[in-house]
Amino acid sequence: MSYKILILPGDGIGPEVMKEVDRVINWFNKEVNLSAEIEYENVGGISYDLNKTAISEEAMSLAKESDAVLFGAVGGPKWDNVEYENRPEAGLLRLRKDLDLFANLRPALCFPALVDASALKKEIIEGLDIIIVRELTGGIYFGEPRGIEDLGSGNRRGINTQVYESWEIQRIAEVAFELARKRNNKVTSSEKRNVMESGLLWNEEVTKLHNEKYSDVELEHMLADNCGMQLVRWPKQFDVIVTDNLFGDMLSDVAAMLTGSLGMLPSASLGKASNGIFTNALYEPVHGSAPDIEGQGIANPLASILSFAMALRYSFSRIDDANLLEKAISNVLEAGLRTKDISTNDSKVISTSEMGDAVISKLSELI
Ligand code: IPM
Ligand code: MG
Repeated sequence: MSYKILILPGDGIGPEVMKEVDRVINWFNKEVNLSAEIEYENVGGISYDLNKTAISEEAMSLAKESDAVLFGAVGGPKWDNVEYENRPEAGLLRLRKDLDLFANLRPALCFPALVDASALKKEIIEGLDIIIVRELTGGIYFGEPRGIEDLGSGNRRGINTQVYESWEIQRIAEVAFELARKRNNKVTSSEKRNVMESGLLWNEEVTKLHNEKYSDVELEHMLADNCGMQLVRWPKQFDVIVTDNLFGDMLSDVAAMLTGSLGMLPSASLGKASNGIFTNALYEPVHGSAPDIEGQGIANPLASILSFAMALRYSFSRIDDANLLEKAISNVLEAGLRTKDISTNDSKVISTSEMGDAVISKLSELI
């Protein structure tokens, strides 16, 4: 079985962190016979500079053909004035939509060695292991009508539409319930039914599916604003949180920060599955392009490397390899090796490529 991987490094620190991912993939090819072929394409601002579009048709068709897409990051001040439909983020949104990657899994896991990197008290985050399941191809991100209308006399109207149909809610809720069964068996569904009809529908569809198919899983409903507050107050009350595209965007940034560093968090965006293997999938770090630290060799590559571990798990069904990689990363942290973003007083601060070296050397120790 050989796999086709498409790497889209993108902008900012994207290329720096993806370089370390490339090295890790090659370690797996060489040491444990992964047989993954890597191809490269452009996305985001760099693609705009070269092709006047945030993602080219060639890149799109390569993405569709590949078994997994590994995405770096897009955007930066350089492209602030690009026409809206060609802004760097449009490349990512098109990938999500055209590959129908409706399920975005964002785990927030606190590595024991990093409890002190969090802004929250140790007892609040120690042992934290939650996952946000964010709907990714619907809601206000894609709803019509949208746009800016000129109403005359200097007055304008900006419009976006929050819209969900039953089947979209059911399929994302299904992913959340299935996942919960393999974890701690609890789903928290989050919306704003007190203000929005789309939230009311969300609530009703999740409840209906729960009654029909998943009554063995504990289900709780929580308004999205309260959910944000509860995440900061006592995050360990959660197991799986399922929510829409916009609330998921916000709640996953909050959850990310709980763990100490955005530089540690991976994500998977998944489409349809056949026999438990996701045939369309994109993996990306939750952090963005961080143009302020671009080119300095200090970016943390661990979120991207952990995203590759998710690809091993969900796209290639190589669970042992995924566990091996996660264990190697945890050993690196236990050894006190840190990039700047997760450093503490007694840790050794290392560069992006030294972090890649450290992961590879811990991998080699483990086999
Ligand atoms: C994310 C990002 C994206 C989003 C941007 C870059 C379009 O914030 O993946 O969370 O809003 O979905
Ligand atoms: Mg976001």
